[in-house]
Amino acid sequence: MSKKNTFYITSPIYYATAAPHLGHMYTTIICDVVARYHRMLGHEVLFLTGTDEHGSKVYQKAQEARKDTQAFLDEQAAKYELMTDVLDISNDIFMRTSYDWHKKAAQEFWKRSFEHGDIYKKKYTGLYCVGCEAFKTEKDLDEKGLCPDHKQKPERIEEENYFFRLSAYGAKLKKLFKENPEFVIPEGKRKEMHALIEEGLEDVSISRHKSKLSWGVEVPGDSEQVMYVWFDALTNYITAAGYAQDEKKFKKWWPADVHVVGKEINRFHSLLWPAMLISAGVDIPKQIAVHGWITVDGQKMSKTLGNVLDPFEIVKQFPLSAVRYFMLREIPFDSDGVFSFKRLGERYEADLANGLGNLFYRVLSMIEKYTDGCIPQPSDDAVRTYEHVWKEYNEGFRAFRFDRALEAVWALLRSADQVINEEEPWKLADPAAKQEVKLNNLLYTLATICHHAAWFVYPFMPSISEAMFEQLGLNISEEFKHDVKKIALKPGTKIKKGSPLFPRLV
Ligand code: MSP
Repeated sequence: MSKKNTFYITSPIYYATAAPHLGHMYTTIICDVVARYHRMLGHEVLFLTGTDEHGSKVYQKAQEARKDTQAFLDEQAAKYELMTDVLDISNDIFMRTSYDWHKKAAQEFWKRSFEHGDIYKKKYTGLYCVGCEAFKTEKDLDEKGLCPDHKQKPERIEEENYFFRLSAYGAKLKKLFKENPEFVIPEGKRKEMHALIEEGLEDVSISRHKSKLSWGVEVPGDSEQVMYVWFDALTNYITAAGYAQDEKKFKKWWPADVHVVGKEINRFHSLLWPAMLISAGVDIPKQIAVHGWITVDGQKMSKTLGNVLDPFEIVKQFPLSAVRYFMLREIPFDSDGVFSFKRLGERYEADLANGLGNLFYRVLSMIEKYTDGCIPQPSDDAVRTYEHVWKEYNEGFRAFRFDRALEAVWALLRSADQVINEEEPWKLADPAAKQEVKLNNLLYTLATICHHAAWFVYPFMPSISEAMFEQLGLNISEEFKHDVKKIALKPGTKIKKGSPLFPRLV
């Protein structure tokens, strides 16, 4: 984590070709959870998401829709912005690469790399997959000559283009990977990239002739060419942080702390992007975190394959908090995973309604009943800081293993349930038992666990966390002013028990 106490996180920018689907929702939620985690810890966060609005795919879709390209993009981008609202995404910037200020910065960046001698022009013939927006070699294709991800035949392209001298960066990238073993996480994805460097990197085409594709950022000094979509798209990460416009802002936020990306776009971020940055004399980001795919019948969910689930429909069927929790609890970051309504329903019942929701309701009901609705005063000096849980939780976040972070929290919740069953507070509450001190200590412990849980779940389920703080008689924004290591419930605080956090679904 940055010593500056700032944290800059980016999601990929989504192709504004069609409506968002569950895969985009997944990436965006991951970023939101990490951004909220850092804000909760008191860091100043910049969280960027947005839309990628150039290239062949976008242009073709606008043509198919028989719409003016920019008007089509405005419609599509609005859907992604709406997704951020509907999913309670806390992004600070929504970038669109069709913004003029982005285009200017991308051109500035191109000039720096050009001046460094890394951009040159040559005649080229190659196979281009529009779905990937990338050139392919024969060995990248399946036995039928199709792109394995998009099941489409690549186009043969013959033109004179600008190239970026990626081949010159093998040694520098090797050094970067060696010196920063966590530059790419998880380990398996780092190794894949390292193997590509070992195989040898080839120069990449970074422009298109306008007669073939006019929809792009114009190449500085050559009005016949536009930039290759990835060259322009990657620079969005620096333009959003102020590159070539606001020196002070840029110094504050760059280098980014992490770019979160899906596995199919890892190589653009882990190889091409650092090389481009070194070439243009800009620092490289601190980390690339690579997640797996949500699959349907073993294949990536994608618009091109037509097997997509609609985020807006999903959150009509299940509470948003549950969906956010489910995706990060169910699918380990480094693996592919399946989204199933059946599993979502099961986890809703087991983890949320019967787990967190039931414990919270039980504890608050007992405080209402036995201690007059006030947090009791404990008499003992038992340690109630749950450092071991925070440790596992933080380690989970560090490794992007949200499933582990959540498992640590749910182990704590289960331990609280167990204590209730063993100590039987209803018996301690009987005046004849003369166990008031023990009861107060126990209820204080249970309330403290609920209090910590309200912090722990915040990044995943912000509105549930807010409700938990409120029912505990606290205020979320006041709470987050405290150092997380020093959080403690004040005895005497009046609770405000409300309705169950997770009502039964009908
Ligand atoms: N526009 C480029 C990214 C440019 S970043 C400078 C792009 N866009 S995309 O819309 O195709 O994908 C954006 C992100 O969504 C990627 O990280 C991708 O992995 C993610 N997902 C798209 N489908 C997905 C699944 N089925 N499952 C999980 N995430 C997937 O690539």
